[in-house]
Amino acid sequence: MVSRDLNPNRLSRHESNLRVHCFVTVSSTNDVARGYALAGEEEGLVVVAETQTHGKGRWERRWQSPKGGLWFTVLLRPSSLERLGLTSLAAGIAAVRAIEFFGVSVNLKWPNDILSDGRKLGGILVEGGTQGDSHYALVGIGINLNIPKDAFSEDIRETAVSLFELTSSTISQDSFLDTLLGHFFELYQSILSGQTDNLLEEYRRACSSLGKKVRVETSQGTIDGTVVGIAHDGALLLDIGEGMTQNVLCGEVTSLRERTRA
Ligand code: BTN
Repeated sequence: MVSRDLNPNRLSRHESNLRVHCFVTVSSTNDVARGYALAGEEEGLVVVAETQTHGKGRWERRWQSPKGGLWFTVLLRPSSLERLGLTSLAAGIAAVRAIEFFGVSVNLKWPNDILSDGRKLGGILVEGGTQGDSHYALVGIGINLNIPKDAFSEDIRETAVSLFELTSSTISQDSFLDTLLGHFFELYQSILSGQTDNLLEEYRRACSSLGKKVRVETSQGTIDGTVVGIAHDGALLLDIGEGMTQNVLCGEVTSLRERTRA
């Protein structure tokens, strides 16, 4: 493992306590970061790996993590886990901002699948944990940065895409990471200070799920409805007919019209 410094020009006051630990291969950066959290590490640790042998996606899916991608996890120490939904939206916006800097337009399928023309360019897995009376959050972010098409296995080759494929250029991992972290901590600071109107507005602009008829699989069952908004805590607001609205804080969204993942 090596530690590296962040570029101070890209960071604002809040990130002065950021420490980046870089590994060659780990099972999952979320798992390594959890180990640090349980050992008492402070907020602001960033675990980066060149490859992951057991990269994890949402809903226990496997996350392919070949060399060339940017795979990392940020350790946070929130005072409660209430704002985890918003934190995950903030990570999505930070990724969109960093990607769009390279002229690639992307959108977010709620909550934070990063899509370019329907193909997956990145994903975010936020996990929360409690230890005694303190909490930690692991914000795991995967960006398909400099990955050639044939590095993905055949089953996802047509549904995944990398920034390298979209821009035909190799992007510096370090500067992409520093830029994304700069955006993320600015947004996280706004969550901590309770000023989330701008964040939610920016999220709504980036979110491709709004207005769509969708099916949402949740741990409590399946809900069909039309996405009519994003609530103040980051939940999806669904019009489920007969004048009723339902909030969903955690679920997997599929578009009903296109029968593809919305
Ligand atoms: C998803 O879209 O299903 C979420 C994918 C999250 C992948 C990232 S890569 C870095 C971090 N470590 C993991 O094992 N998963 C996240």
